[in-house]
Amino acid sequence: MDAPMTDHLSTVRHVILVLSGKGGVGKSTVASQLALGLKHAGKKVGLLDVDLCGPSVPKMFGVEGNDIHQCPEGWLPVYVDKEQRLGVMSIGFLIEGKDDAVVWRGPKKNAMIKQFLSDVVWRDIDYLVIDTPPGTSDEHITVIESLKSYCPDGALLVTTPQGVAVGDVRRELTFCHKTGVPVLGIIENMSGFACPCCGEVTNVFSKGGGEALAKQSHVPFLGCIPLDPQLAQSSEEGKDFQELFAQSPTYTALNEVLQKLIAVDKDF
Ligand SMILES: Nc1ncnc2c1ncn2[C@@H]1O[C@H](COP(=O)(O)OP(=O)(O)O)[C@@H](O)[C@H]1O
Ligand SMILES: [Mg+2]
Ligand SMILES: [Zn+2]
Repeated sequence: MDAPMTDHLSTVRHVILVLSGKGGVGKSTVASQLALGLKHAGKKVGLLDVDLCGPSVPKMFGVEGNDIHQCPEGWLPVYVDKEQRLGVMSIGFLIEGKDDAVVWRGPKKNAMIKQFLSDVVWRDIDYLVIDTPPGTSDEHITVIESLKSYCPDGALLVTTPQGVAVGDVRRELTFCHKTGVPVLGIIENMSGFACPCCGEVTNVFSKGGGEALAKQSHVPFLGCIPLDPQLAQSSEEGKDFQELFAQSPTYTALNEVLQKLIAVDKDF
């Protein structure tokens, strides 16, 4: 039954995949903040969390434990704002106890992801941001294969400044090339420490690994996002970081990435 899929996703103008080579680099944080930023920029946005092993998006928006409502056309996303400009759909909504590990095997996982892609009623959104599981696993391949016919704009690759993470991103780049997904660019997260007191950014670790890799690989570098306790806390508490901390260097950094993405949009 491929028909309903065409209907729901064909009304989505831009599909952006957020990828990373390994967990814990801030992929979900970046995906959530970009979705939020797009909403603040006046876009209609969907955020789809297909990380079956560690769904964290509901928590970041304070909508953990919400039930998904079904309408005749499919599943309705959970809206995080009154205006219904940002809708979230996560495997997390389907998991009973939030600590349940999802240990489904490949075929069941793949079926679930396909259903996620096809059955959510996004209506006429401008952007669908997809938070993928880390790595280059079955889930990735399923997501990308199911999305191919909709010509996703491409993938954002999230890395941290350290060499190990950069190596993982190199594998992601190869994966994108093999699967024919355009790379929108690389984002270096946890890049320096933003002091919550004075806003100064200190480079705790080395910096620039992401940018160097982008240059080497001939893909755009989209920016550095500092490690910021206020961002961690906002995510933990499901609060709107961008509204609360618009003065912070981290907000500025996120906004720069966002503006680059929106600029790409104009080239279409
Ligand atoms: N720039 C940042 N500043 C502060 N904390 C961050 C930042 N990016 C991510 N984190 C925190 O690091 C942890 C892992 O981030 P997450 O987005 O869940 O990673 P991933 O999805 O790649 O596994 C979370 O607790 C998150 O709040
Ligand atoms: Mg995650
Ligand atoms: Zn300070």
